[in-house]
Amino acid sequence: MRFTDQTVLVTGGTGGMGTSHARAYHAEGARVVIGSTATGLDSAHEFAAELGERALAVRLDVTGEDDWTAAVRAAEEHFGHLTILVNNAGVQNPALTVEATDRKLWERTFAVNVTGQFLGIRAVTPAMRRAGGGVIINIGSTMAYGGTALYASYVASKWALRGLTRSAALELGRDNIRVNAIHPGVIATKLITAPPAPGQPPIADFYDPSPFAVPRLGEPADITAALLYLTSPEASFATGAELVVDGGLLLGPALPAGLAEAA
Ligand SMILES: NC(=O)c1ccc[n+]([C@@H]2O[C@H](COP(=O)([O-])OP(=O)(O)OC[C@H]3O[C@@H](n4cnc5c(N)ncnc54)[C@H](OP(=O)(O)O)[C@@H]3O)[C@@H](O)[C@H]2O)c1
Repeated sequence: MRFTDQTVLVTGGTGGMGTSHARAYHAEGARVVIGSTATGLDSAHEFAAELGERALAVRLDVTGEDDWTAAVRAAEEHFGHLTILVNNAGVQNPALTVEATDRKLWERTFAVNVTGQFLGIRAVTPAMRRAGGGVIINIGSTMAYGGTALYASYVASKWALRGLTRSAALELGRDNIRVNAIHPGVIATKLITAPPAPGQPPIADFYDPSPFAVPRLGEPADITAALLYLTSPEASFATGAELVVDGGLLLGPALPAGLAEAA
């Protein structure tokens, strides 16, 4: 029960990883605010009702400044304060070359993945100051460490978050607000198991984890565990940090079976 005195806001709180995060914080004693788009709001209310006491669903389209203001206000009114923000909401772009990418699609990816997190940090900062401090986690991606053909808008948006995380960490440290990023590898959620656009294969169909050091798809719980650590008092010295949780994906292929024994 590491989070009994904390109120956590999770954006994209009905998604694959968002659900796992909200559930885990709640189980560890936190008050949890589940942010959801208007489309997912019914599920968010059902999820909050299932968790029971200490859970609240709010409409929070992360691209909307008014939604952010209302969500922060709701957290403070219901639970007294807001101390942890998980900037989790994100969208993948359809598989397209840069040349074929429509400007509107590019801007939409940035609006959700980058501007959404910027607006979140801006909206929660005064509330965290009122609470005496807090922790913000930006969910990035291992795609922020290289290039991926056909996913330039997503890749570029996740790279941008690295700069946002570091700059905000510098600005907010004196307010006792820590800002860190977690970069998941390939995690089994609808972001990769559902087609990114009608007629396109899901990313999971052409991702093979077998060459990597931990040869499996990641689970939301793998990311939740890292998140709970980074937002706990045990991580009070960690700010501006970027925690990669990817089963060794960024390391590149591991030794082929048999080669280690032969060496
Ligand atoms: N799965 C992976 O392999 C992977 C790897 C690296 C990083 N990530 C990142 O991890 C985060 C969570 O993704 P996930 O894998 O859990 O995918 P997911 O199941 O698709 O969840 C994404 C969530 O974001 C929400 N969302 C989308 N647009 C939004 C908006 N404008 N305002 C508020 N919420 C919005 C979605 O809500 P609706 O369903 O209502 O649209 C959904 O709840 C994302 O930032 C993603 O980029 C995922």
